[in-house]
Amino acid sequence: MSSLFLSLLLVLLLFSHSSDSRSVADVLDLSGADAVVDLNRTTFDDFLKKSPAGFAIVEFFAHWCPACRNYKPHYEKVARLFNGPHAVHPGLIVMTRVDCADKMNTDLCNRFSVSHYPMLLWGPPIKFAAGRWDPKKQNNEFQPIEDGRTAERLLNWINKRIGRQLI
Ligand SMILES: *[C@@H]1O[C@H](CO)[C@@H](O)[C@H](O)[C@H]1NC(C)=O
Repeated sequence: MSSLFLSLLLVLLLFSHSSDSRSVADVLDLSGADAVVDLNRTTFDDFLKKSPAGFAIVEFFAHWCPACRNYKPHYEKVARLFNGPHAVHPGLIVMTRVDCADKMNTDLCNRFSVSHYPMLLWGPPIKFAAGRWDPKKQNNEFQPIEDGRTAERLLNWINKRIGRQLI
C-alpha cells in the first residue's frame, strides 16, 4: 500500500471517530461523496414515501443553469450534515434534488410549480410523495425556502424553521 493511501485511511479513521467534536467549520468544509439524494420521476414518490426523516428539502434545478452550478457546493455542504453515514443530524432532514432540465422530470417539476432554478421546497417527505404544490393556493404543507442562497443562510433558515440551533 502506498503511503498516500495510508494517510487517506488515517484521515478517514480520524474523521469517523470525531463526529461529536466537529466544529461548524470542519463539518461545512468536509468534502467528498455526493450527500444529496438525486431523485427522478421513477424514484421520487417511492423514496420520499419510505423516508424516515422528519423533513425533506427538494432542490429543483437544471443542470445547465449557472446559478445552480454555483449553488451546488452550498447545498452539498448542508446535505452532509443531514444525509449519509457521517451525518451530524441523521434522520432529521433528507436533502434531495431533481433535475428539471431532464425531460423525464417535466411532469414532476410541474407538480411542484417550479418557476425558477434553483428552487428549494421544504415539507414532510410523505407529503412530497404523490403531492403537489401551487403557490397561489393556501397550502401549509410545503414552504418555499426563499433565502437559502448560501450554506450558512440555508442552515439559518432550517434552524429557524425547526426552532432549534442545529449547528
Ligand atoms: C432514476 O434514478 C435511478 C437512481 O438514481 C436510476 O437508477 C434510474 O435509471 C433513473 N431513471 C431513469 C429513467 O433514468
